[in-house]
Amino acid sequence: MITLGIDLGTSGVKALLLEDERQVAVASAPLTISRPHPGWSEQDPADWWRATCDCLDALKAEHPRALAAVRAIGLSGQMHGATLLGADDAVLRPCILWNDGRSEAQCAELERPELQLRQRAGNPAMPGFTAPKLLWVRQHEPEVYARVARVLLPKAWLRWQLCGEYAEDMSDASGTLWLDVGARAWSAPLLAACGLDERHMPRLVEGTVPTGRLRAEWVARWGFEQAPVLAGGAGDNAAGAVGVGAVTPGDAFLSLGTSGVLWATTAGFAPAPDRGVHAFCHAVPGTWHQMGVMLSAAASLSWWAGVSACSEADLLREVEADTNMNSAGEGACWFAPYLSGERTPHNDALLRGGFVHLSASTRRVDMTRAVLTGVAYAFRDMRDALAAAGTRITEADLIGGGARSDLWNQTLADVLGLPLHQVAGSQHGCALGAARLARVAADGGRLFSKPPRQRSYLPDGHAAHRHDGAFEQWQQLYGRLRQLPAPASALPSSLPTTTEPA
Ligand code: XUL
Repeated sequence: MITLGIDLGTSGVKALLLEDERQVAVASAPLTISRPHPGWSEQDPADWWRATCDCLDALKAEHPRALAAVRAIGLSGQMHGATLLGADDAVLRPCILWNDGRSEAQCAELERPELQLRQRAGNPAMPGFTAPKLLWVRQHEPEVYARVARVLLPKAWLRWQLCGEYAEDMSDASGTLWLDVGARAWSAPLLAACGLDERHMPRLVEGTVPTGRLRAEWVARWGFEQAPVLAGGAGDNAAGAVGVGAVTPGDAFLSLGTSGVLWATTAGFAPAPDRGVHAFCHAVPGTWHQMGVMLSAAASLSWWAGVSACSEADLLREVEADTNMNSAGEGACWFAPYLSGERTPHNDALLRGGFVHLSASTRRVDMTRAVLTGVAYAFRDMRDALAAAGTRITEADLIGGGARSDLWNQTLADVLGLPLHQVAGSQHGCALGAARLARVAADGGRLFSKPPRQRSYLPDGHAAHRHDGAFEQWQQLYGRLRQLPAPASALPSSLPTTTEPA
């Protein structure tokens, strides 16, 4: 059977054609983020649609027969974004994304003891989640808030666009703070805290079950033989988990995408909200997981590539070629990857990153190496937060665009002291997971096998020992950075965009 997985990511949309377990083709189209104020991060849903159409147009041009034969479509989506629709289904404002930090004050409101947020949702309030974004809109854009008829996560909006149904899967819904994650049901008190009720929300489904069928106009546009059914799908991390077969308690993976994620499938619902550990539903029925999330993982390297006007590939090559690679050269420095604040373990949206210890000898290559290790150290912070929450990871598979670099993968293995494995097809892990969920929705079967491991990165004893000492020093950066006052112009604004009079 041929299925299609569509992954609505932050840096782009990917569409993957899967025939049984064979990846027939992948098409992708880029997306950009708009940052109208410091700390804000937004995208226009119209751009998601344009990118999705570009991917499907490309598949139709290159693989018309395989595309026509698709029986089911699975969706994977960047999580948490608030897409607000009016009664006429029009989008009311740009979607506020998962790495937007404006709603710190609203998180405090949600944490008031009488709401029992942590007990009901199993998670702490963090500005990346959806609920505080709604409170922010209520306070700062009351005219928008008054018109909100429906609140959708990014892929629920895409599903509505594709098939006309409002539905959301449990894994993605977990990141709203409106879900009773243990009960896998919307929580009336948590919705009410934001002035909402179930009528504003999409119908909840498990990731493996069918929802609507593709609208007739799209069936005609892309030449499908029959209208494919859409599976519930998954938030991008749960989709990645399905892609690598991480569906059994003890399975773990590390995602090196725009965000960085350390995921562990758990034996049941295991809330541990104190150090920013996420405890969410899996996309697979009756299954939950924990994860640590850092906001700028591969995003740190892309940022550095932009700033230094050099491609990421060239920056990585420069580090590989540098003979000082394993010694702390004179120009060695630290990097803290808090470009958009941090979730696990700090839950601090106002925190900002930094290069520290620059000297007159510091070269670009030293700074790139600091970026790679700084991101790896932030992963180690997450590993420790998960361990404190009772989840000890012993090995992990790798997914995400950043995990194409052997150098970065080895650094991560050394810093984490864990064997890391590159598995077949993992570069498109989220789209693959979505296509696998589609297959289950279409034929009722259940097949989430683990793809073969292609290469393992084992911790090197010497390097791991060196990183143990360095990590303790690096950890001090957090305390120092959070005490430093930011330049006034860099303070996250909580003001709505104003239009200058002409
Ligand atoms: C997870 C999270 C990110 C986004 C990235 O909680 O915010 O991993 O899903 O797309």
